[in-house]
Amino acid sequence: MKKSCNFVIDVKGITKSFDKKIVVNNLDLKVKKGEVYGFLGPNGSGKTTFLRMLCGLLTPDGGSGTCLGYDILHEQEKIKNEIGYMTQKFSLYQDLTVDENLDFISRIYRITNRKERIKRIITRMGLEEYKKQLVKNLSGGWKQRLALAACLIHGPNLLLLDEPTAGVDPRSRRDFWEEIHQLAGQGITVLVTTHYMDEAERCHRLAYLAYGNLLTSGTGDEVVRHANLMTWAISGDNLYALSVQLKKMKGIEQIVVFGSALHISGKDGALIEACVQKLVKDNYKCERVLSNLEDVFIYLTDRPGG
Ligand SMILES: Nc1ncnc2c1ncn2[C@@H]1O[C@H](COP(=O)(O)OP(=O)(O)O)[C@@H](O)[C@H]1O
Ligand SMILES: [Mg+2]
Repeated sequence: MKKSCNFVIDVKGITKSFDKKIVVNNLDLKVKKGEVYGFLGPNGSGKTTFLRMLCGLLTPDGGSGTCLGYDILHEQEKIKNEIGYMTQKFSLYQDLTVDENLDFISRIYRITNRKERIKRIITRMGLEEYKKQLVKNLSGGWKQRLALAACLIHGPNLLLLDEPTAGVDPRSRRDFWEEIHQLAGQGITVLVTTHYMDEAERCHRLAYLAYGNLLTSGTGDEVVRHANLMTWAISGDNLYALSVQLKKMKGIEQIVVFGSALHISGKDGALIEACVQKLVKDNYKCERVLSNLEDVFIYLTDRPGG
């Protein structure tokens, strides 16, 4: 990475269309060194497309900026050398062993001390026991660790991880996130896409995209605060029937089932408080709660204007 840049990713106005449909619309993003930055949003929102533009696999139609201090439009080859990109479907050779996969990738990167590097990364990722196994026989969690090992082998400064934990069990997800934070602690910057709210909460900062547009960004707390959404948890009998009724009430802009309670949210304090008072009269237990990221994201997705 060039020494002079304050931000590992610093891009402005990034735009991309496919077949005249804008899939990434005028997106600005700044990410600092050592930050774990979460990228969230419904399927088809342009997350993968954006990652591919950052690492030089795809050229934006508009916009400019730097990644690792290199110009994203003119220095794509330099960027590729310093990035580790874990694609949405892990790109591993199923009929090669763990060792062979890593050897193959190291040859692509023309790593000189291959054997030593592979040994080190295998130890680091706890893959020793599996190194002679064919990838197709590994569990999802181990495939994921191998995929991470593969994108770390050339010593990148930036990791782009595209839904790295999709379909992986909770224990492996937790271990994976520990690993990510350890890497960030060593100064590696991580941009990661996810659909899991617990993972969103583990990111230093977040951006939320819907259908190509960046709807909000900041720390988890900032994102919740900026949304300015008031939420109550309602519990009592027959909540499903209640939720149908509540949909007709003015002021309740969103109803989400959360376990044994309904979360109702809205932005107009007076209106929603009037609803809550009525519910209390009808013997429902109503508790004001802090809106969580999921409340906010669902709200924003349904109303892109905010
Ligand atoms: N190479 C491509 N050609 C045409 N359309 C594409 C291509 N890649 C992605 N898209 C479209 O762009 C939109 C955004 O896709 P994607 O970036 O994969 O979103 P996400 O990763 O957020 O699910 C989708 O509508 C998708 O169908
Ligand atoms: Mg994607």
